[in-house]
Amino acid sequence: MLPQETIRRKRNGEPLLPEEISRLVAGVTDGSVSEGQVAAFAMAVWFNGMAREETVALTLAMRDSGDVLDWSDLGRPVADKHSTGGVGDNVSLMLAPIAAACGLAVPMISGRGLGHTGGTLDKLESIPGYTIMPSADIFRRTVKDIGCAIIGQTADLAPADKRIYAIRDVTATVDSVPLITASILSKKLAAGLQSLVLDVKVGNGAFMTEMAEAETLARSLVEVANGAGVKTSALITDMNQPLADAAGNAVEIANCIAFLKGEKAGTRLERIVLAFAAEMLALSGLETDPAAALAQARGALTSGAAAEVFGRMVHALGGPADIVERAAVYLSPAPVIRPVLADEAGYLAACDTRGIGLAVIELGGGRSRPDDTVDHRVGFDRLLPLGTKVEKGMEIGRVHAASTDAAERAAMRLAALYRTTPEAPAAAPEILEAVS
Ligand code: URA
Repeated sequence: MLPQETIRRKRNGEPLLPEEISRLVAGVTDGSVSEGQVAAFAMAVWFNGMAREETVALTLAMRDSGDVLDWSDLGRPVADKHSTGGVGDNVSLMLAPIAAACGLAVPMISGRGLGHTGGTLDKLESIPGYTIMPSADIFRRTVKDIGCAIIGQTADLAPADKRIYAIRDVTATVDSVPLITASILSKKLAAGLQSLVLDVKVGNGAFMTEMAEAETLARSLVEVANGAGVKTSALITDMNQPLADAAGNAVEIANCIAFLKGEKAGTRLERIVLAFAAEMLALSGLETDPAAALAQARGALTSGAAAEVFGRMVHALGGPADIVERAAVYLSPAPVIRPVLADEAGYLAACDTRGIGLAVIELGGGRSRPDDTVDHRVGFDRLLPLGTKVEKGMEIGRVHAASTDAAERAAMRLAALYRTTPEAPAAAPEILEAVS
């Protein structure tokens, strides 16, 4: 069928057949479907949506537009996790080594910062020598020998998504549940997974600010991924404050290493990381008893096994051999580090989490345009969690900046992003809902 016929049918709200979806995606990949036709198709989907079967067909066609990795020679379950994005969300950096230390293989294809959210690849590039685009051979060997490798999307993985995403980005068609679903899952499925756990974030630092929207996206992702043959579940998690006590790039790597050394025990971050690790173990069938899965994940952390896996992965992908032992030597400090002081006494009751992400970009730690370079040294750390009682003038975090002026501006901005109340706020749970 001609692309314009498929677009017309979707425009008129008719259901599309799997064959016509795969023909359209093949045309997107080989360039015979024009940019205008991709834009028109995306807009027709934006208005009329897609049934589950159509979204599964779109996801599979986009997955098959490039290489699909095969890990059948590994002899261990292949699993991954994906987050819809947040601020101070460095979960993947600790989760991959914990899962690998528990016996899973985790070939994790990650992304760069998007909008106000940070990106795992930008964070990893704070480590001197770390290559996010290793050869296929090094990627495969790292997953096989060490258990995990966190890298970027290669040109051969879901190329149809690359083209469609770039066109959606400039045609106001990013925020469509079926298009987001197919985009995220095509890349994940191309990585050759057997199981996948999704972290769907909701709150003022997430793309989905309302629970109903997050539930719709979580259900779409879970149903389509299972429909495409990958065992998948989702946890909807709170993003109304930075997850780690840091937001930026090198500061989040430092936080990750401190976490792996056991220095973040009892935090929200630890509860979320261990919950995802347990979910990965359960879904992959390695340990189906929830309490035993959690204990196994905790054991990988407290024994130092996960820290060892992280260090070996960094070295295998071009970084130093002793990043865990000597992080401070390798992570370049920002020229100016100064405290951020509370504007008033009370309990930290709320913060503008998106504003914190934007303040990191303002410091140079993210991009305003795709070709911007990132200053890996800047950001915030030692951020206090909501619910903490503070006195006026007490340190609520630190800013890392390239200059004194930038530090001053960011410190004033950060302090103004927090709201204090005389009464302690109710504690917010980290995990709001499980979708399977
Ligand atoms: N992330 C993706 O990879 N694709 C989307 O469409 C949205 C977020």
